[in-house]
Amino acid sequence: LSKRRRHLAACFVRSQKNHTLIFTKENTIRNCSCSVVICDCDYCLANLMCNCKTVLPSTMEKTTYNSHLTIWFTDTSLLEMVLSFTRVWDLKLSFCGTTPLPTEYLAIWGLQNLQVNMVRGQFPEQSVTIPSSNNDKEDLLEVHNKDRQMLAHISFLDTSLFNGDSLLKSYSVENVSSIMKHFPSLLYSDVFSTSDNESYVVTFIY
Ligand SMILES: *[C@@H]1O[C@H](CO)[C@@H](O)[C@H](O)[C@H]1NC(C)=O
Ligand SMILES: *[C@@H]1O[C@H](CO)[C@@H](O)[C@H](O)[C@H]1NC(C)=O
Ligand SMILES: *[C@@H]1O[C@H](CO)[C@@H](O)[C@H](O)[C@H]1NC(C)=O
Ligand SMILES: *[C@@H]1O[C@H](CO)[C@@H](O)[C@H](O)[C@H]1NC(C)=O
Repeated sequence: LSKRRRHLAACFVRSQKNHTLIFTKENTIRNCSCSVVICDCDYCLANLMCNCKTVLPSTMEKTTYNSHLTIWFTDTSLLEMVLSFTRVWDLKLSFCGTTPLPTEYLAIWGLQNLQVNMVRGQFPEQSVTIPSSNNDKEDLLEVHNKDRQMLAHISFLDTSLFNGDSLLKSYSVENVSSIMKHFPSLLYSDVFSTSDNESYVVTFIY
């Protein structure tokens, strides 16, 4: 067997159904549908084995991902472009860069399972499950309507966690009526409406 074939065999396994892989490389965003699981950051293999399209940042819209999403990224600006304010409940983020990342907060709706991988650091592979009183995953993607109160799950992810210096932690605050009032220093807080009847579950992942 050639070295290349052995490498191929080690680097992907066939999966049950297609999943979405988005990767950013040198200012390009590629959106792929893969029927195999590719080793993290193997861009060549992804281009070869998956059905990939280049995405123009100007045409990108905020999306809902109803099944598992994997993102490989090297810097926070493209990651933010792809991920901020999307709805995704099952997410894997793999940091493929080498330059340490600054602290920035990414806002993600409805996140429940998060797996993070980094190519270096003391803790290269970690995951977190965000506890939820409601186990119905599909439901998390929708804004609940409970006793006329709107309930939404929002997570803020500190991008410096990809430096792999510490264990992944999460902290949730329930019944947050106004994100602006409770967390005024969050960069994005002005994005949220100030309606009286809303109730957020806010999770910080750091
Ligand atoms: C990637 O493709 C999926 C469909 O395969 C689509 O739902 C999603 O919006 C796309 N994401 C981006 C950032 O283009
Ligand atoms: C999965 O993607 C391949 C192309 O990569 C396509 O031919 C196939 O129909 C897709 N399967 C499903 C179940 O969507
Ligand atoms: C959130 O509010 C609900 C309904 O008002 C209440 O039952 C629940 O105990 C509250 N949770 C916390 C953590 O305060
Ligand atoms: C809040 O809910 C009450 C009824 O429970 C309704 O009368 C009121 O208009 C709502 N306020 C807002 C800002 O949606």
